[in-house]
Amino acid sequence: MEKKTINIPYEEYASIAELPDADRALLEAAIDATKGSYAPYSHFNVGAAVRLADGTVVKGANQENAAFPSGLCAERTAMFAASANYPGVAFESLAVVCSRDGKLMPNPGSPCGACRQVMAQYEREADKPMRILLGSSGPILAFDGVESLMPLIFNDL
Ligand code: THU
Repeated sequence: MEKKTINIPYEEYASIAELPDADRALLEAAIDATKGSYAPYSHFNVGAAVRLADGTVVKGANQENAAFPSGLCAERTAMFAASANYPGVAFESLAVVCSRDGKLMPNPGSPCGACRQVMAQYEREADKPMRILLGSSGPILAFDGVESLMPLIFNDL
């Protein structure tokens, strides 16, 4: 037996102003996307934006439903819309933010496992690491590749 450690590299930016231009623009798109959130149950508004290899930005927001499992997270709403409308165009990056009462949360939210699994699929299709930005009104975290968010990911089919 050998004990091993997984090391997860990521970047932390102190504020949106500190981000490289392309990341800042995508994060601002994610912030704008929160306007499309339909969250009458949680009142937690999540916005996401995907940048495709051709520069197209596709937004998504969480959509809730009285039959709870029928709703969908912002990240998957954005990714499925991007894939459905621009089939086969590689995903370059994805930004996510959470807000409540019209105010960004002070710390980054973290995508659920199901969204990470979906990210992994599109990253594999693109055959290059997807940059993931988790934004807030405070720090912003940036990960180069889904493996950083979901080590030992299932992608074996
Ligand atoms: N939610 C997202 O949209 N993305 C996440 O990464 C976590 C949670 C949504 C689902 C639900 O509408 C609300 O936030 C509360 O869980």
